[in-house]
Amino acid sequence: MNNLPIGVFDSGVGGLTVCKEIMKMLPEESIIYFGDTARVPYGNKSKETITVYSRQIANFLLSKGVKAIVVACNTASAFALETICSEIPVPIIGVIKPGARTAAAGTRNGRIGIIGTEGTIKSGLYKQFIQQINPSVEVFGKACPLFVPLVEEGMADDWITKEVVKRYISELLDRDIDTIVLGCTHYPLLRKVIGEVAGEGVSLVNPAYETARELSQVLTGGKLLCEPGSAPHHIFYVSDGAEKFRDFANSILPCEIIETKDVNVKTF
Ligand code: DGL
Repeated sequence: MNNLPIGVFDSGVGGLTVCKEIMKMLPEESIIYFGDTARVPYGNKSKETITVYSRQIANFLLSKGVKAIVVACNTASAFALETICSEIPVPIIGVIKPGARTAAAGTRNGRIGIIGTEGTIKSGLYKQFIQQINPSVEVFGKACPLFVPLVEEGMADDWITKEVVKRYISELLDRDIDTIVLGCTHYPLLRKVIGEVAGEGVSLVNPAYETARELSQVLTGGKLLCEPGSAPHHIFYVSDGAEKFRDFANSILPCEIIETKDVNVKTF
């Protein structure tokens, strides 16, 4: 059981930011990744649709023999985590609770901005979890629907992206927040430009690090860590555009991805 891989999924390339942290923290563990590139974006779709997609992917990963699943997508964590947790017989970890914990612990003035997809912001889950930890913290959400296509198109360093970032986050900055949660796994890929616009006084929280830590604790607690000295073997599946995805993954991950496999979601 212990040398089985960890399943990780997202709507596209965003979950690679979580994979990167898992690979750094648990370098001997193997990962099976699924990027739902045929159906991205998830952020503007309904809870029902995202639950169907998440259930399909979790079952696909289970059929590949994973020992745990990381939902490396805030939208799927917000909409589907509870449902699939009750259906899937392996530990499942989302990204929202770990991100909320980091933000609640880090804010100095008790004013936190959350940026994410429409679905994540509407769910109100970040606010709920942060205020469960500290009810006096004020939380302001802002949906940034153009960020995901800008990342998926490889436009993170384009001047247009900077203008879009300014447009979206200025209202949060006007509220005197001292922390911004990158509440979508695509957004750490815009970290540089978001940081430039937000300025030095604002800390950016990437929930990926805390998620990898939670995964490590769950595997340790469940005695599921792989044998020391194991050589990791990662496999990447996508529902469309395998080659484009592989090039993108190789620009982000600390290891080289040789092959990315296409899966037809109609067969799910
Ligand atoms: N990266 C995902 C998230 O964290 C989904 C973005 C999208 O597909 O809209 O929410």
